[in-house]
Amino acid sequence: MDIWHIRGGNRLFGSCRVQGSKNASLPVLAASIVFPARSRIRNVPRLRDADAAVSILSHLGCSVGREENELYIDSGLVADADIPRELMAEMRSSVIFMGALLARCGEARLSLPGGCQLGKRPIDLHLSALRAMGAEISEEGSDIFCRAAKLHGAEIDLRFPSVGATENIMLAACAAEGRTTIHGAAREPEIVALQNYLSSLGAHISGAGSGRIVICGASARETTDYTVPSDRIVASTLACACAAAGGRIILSGVNYEHFLTVLHFLNEAGCDIIHFNDIVEISSSGVLRAPGSVITAPYPGFPTDAQPILMAALLRAQGTTQFTETIFENRYRHVSELRRLGADISVDGTQAVLRGVKELRGETLTAPDLRGGAAMVVAGLTARGETRVVDAGHIARGYESFDDRLCALGADVWIEHKGKGTYEDASQPDQPAAFQQARRV
Ligand code: EPZ
Repeated sequence: MDIWHIRGGNRLFGSCRVQGSKNASLPVLAASIVFPARSRIRNVPRLRDADAAVSILSHLGCSVGREENELYIDSGLVADADIPRELMAEMRSSVIFMGALLARCGEARLSLPGGCQLGKRPIDLHLSALRAMGAEISEEGSDIFCRAAKLHGAEIDLRFPSVGATENIMLAACAAEGRTTIHGAAREPEIVALQNYLSSLGAHISGAGSGRIVICGASARETTDYTVPSDRIVASTLACACAAAGGRIILSGVNYEHFLTVLHFLNEAGCDIIHFNDIVEISSSGVLRAPGSVITAPYPGFPTDAQPILMAALLRAQGTTQFTETIFENRYRHVSELRRLGADISVDGTQAVLRGVKELRGETLTAPDLRGGAAMVVAGLTARGETRVVDAGHIARGYESFDDRLCALGADVWIEHKGKGTYEDASQPDQPAAFQQARRV
């Protein structure tokens, strides 16, 4: 079990290159099995969820090697269409292997995915879309069995722009006969990243980033060299940390457009923001004012993943901030913990009202999930005394060397690793026999 220790009060100064995106990497790793190919994938963050995806790929028969942030995947052989329950439970993105396996093997046997407990998180949109493309799917308890002798193109209308459902449809459609059109598709940058990866392997796919994506099969290629874009939620977290603690930081390797909505609220709260090419500079006096009303929405709206983190940054802002969470039913689990620091927040259904307080006092908090854990770290940076965050292993699922990065910016934080289960314990990369061959992409 990891325990974060944060001694608040230090301002943040310096520059930081933002890691590759977790939520872009994971679908790309699942997509690597759609065609028999060798992929060199750069800028993959070293995270537990990425390791979980690698374990699934290895289990399926792929050869996977890693050097720092590069993965080499040889998916020439996919020997199994079955993903064991313990691997499915590791993370939410395991569900994306459903579309990938259907495309590659014509069948998939898996179970409901794990991931953060943010609400019901059904997969009905995934299943109905794959059925519309010709898949026969049966569910027994938490087990799911999918089979398709031949997938065919379809016109699919998503009633909600689900990120995961859009990804699953894109993957399955690569092997479908005819044209698949997704109406009401998710528009997140991670969808564009997936399109770029699939296109680099010969998929005929267009429209990602808009609400209408068209996929017309593929003329598969054997190799690709692909770079994962930077993580907009990590960039948002670092920006919020600087806003709350005060200081001036430079984030490099980022796409400003991808976290514009978060920067907008930090600007309204009193921060100065400058951007140039792939660099964003944030300056803050540490004294913020409430920026008004924050409503989460699918991209390009304000991201639900940044809601806990912006809330943490605004705990001492003068005035009242109103939050409305429209994506997940259960995404205020960080609130009761933040209150223990002295924060004044009330929650009523989808609404949370935050009244800024003069001072926060360090306390021992429990991280409820990945972004909730990151929010506690941000809050701890501005609290008097020491804040401890227990169950903080969640944070390592999404943030690479986050403690080192914050320390390099001047924060006083450290992680106590208790027993097994730390990222370093779990992350010794496999170097299978075919590794050298897989590397020669
Ligand atoms: C992705 O989850 C992200 N995860 C989440 O990030 C992110 O919060 C979410 O998109 C929204 O942006 C990954 O990319 C791995 P959805 P996903 O399907 O795909 C409902 C993080 O912290 N829905 O867009 O699971 C669902 O219940 C994580 O990095 C259905 O009703 O999100 C939810 O209310 C947490 N039926 C809404 O749509 C379905 O079949 C959004 O879900 C599918 C979804």
